Amino acid sequence: MTDVYLKHPLLSEWQPKIRDCQNLQSLEEIRIHLLGKTGLITIELKTLGQMAPDERKSKGAEINALRDCLSELINIQKDELQKKALELRLQEETIDITLSPRPEKTGRLHLLTQVMSDIQSYFSDLGFQMVEGPEIDDEYHNFDALNIPSHHPARQNHDTFYLKDRPSHLLRTHTSTAQIRTLTKQKPPLRIISIGRVYRSDALDATHTPMFHQLEGLVLEPNINIGHLRGCLTDFCKHFFGSSEIKSRFRPSFFPFTEPSAELDINCSRENGQLKIGTGDNWLEILGCGMVHPTVLKNCGIDPNEFQGFAFGAGVERFTMIKYGLPDIRALYDSDERWLNHYGTRY
Ligand code: DAH
Repeated sequence: MTDVYLKHPLLSEWQPKIRDCQNLQSLEEIRIHLLGKTGLITIELKTLGQMAPDERKSKGAEINALRDCLSELINIQKDELQKKALELRLQEETIDITLSPRPEKTGRLHLLTQVMSDIQSYFSDLGFQMVEGPEIDDEYHNFDALNIPSHHPARQNHDTFYLKDRPSHLLRTHTSTAQIRTLTKQKPPLRIISIGRVYRSDALDATHTPMFHQLEGLVLEPNINIGHLRGCLTDFCKHFFGSSEIKSRFRPSFFPFTEPSAELDINCSRENGQLKIGTGDNWLEILGCGMVHPTVLKNCGIDPNEFQGFAFGAGVERFTMIKYGLPDIRALYDSDERWLNHYGTRY
């Protein structure tokens, strides 16, 4: 901005007005008044037409410079006002981020999530590693490697969902697949658990859903025997059901991937339709288990003379229903807000 233009009457008139203008809207009005299509500068420019060429040249340059000068003054003031406005807003708009927006609407952990994380932390305290496997698996990992060949009747019992467009692929019917997936990657000694979704084309009723969760456990160390299996699972049940009084019974059973195999029952009473765990003389079946079959170990390249182990498998929904006295599995998936509020815990 040179002195020449500072001497222009428009500039001496408007410079202080621009500098003193204290709000953006009035500043915009000033801008339109001076630089707009019908503003003072345009009017000045229109006078050029009547001038002689020489005069027009010098006057034109002067008006252009005046326009640039006014426009610069306006922009400087605009920046200044915007800065002030922002500072003011920041001062006024203090947000208390410690305040919960709607305390009654905060999320909760679903009962199944609570149960699964309880199981997980119990076993991790005992040195078990948590592993995961794919929910879409193949016949080899779900059946063959687990000593369930295609002619085996156990395959029929599994009510498998096969994938239409991927031959011999299926939705895993149990988390025992974790045994194979781990043992082919990781060499023993090891202790693992796997918790996840499994699928069976079963009925949908009070005790069945086509998708549910299973817990699979596997311990493979030298000199593991059935006593370790019994101790591990009895202690787990006492912890999970919250009673040191629980009696357990290992009943001989059959699974192709374990030998010997057993089912674990715990004692209960059923009075007036009420199921109570850890009291009474009735028995309730809760999980399957056994010593890992030598064929399964061989299928994974492990020498059964060097390592022995035990495995177990349980339904998470079944454990949950027994512990919390739920009569119908479907309640776990109904998403009824009253139910969720009752059984969910805040986190
Ligand atoms: N996979 C079995 C099922 O889905 C459960 C099971 C039984 C797992 C015995 C095991 C086991 O590891 O040893 O019914």
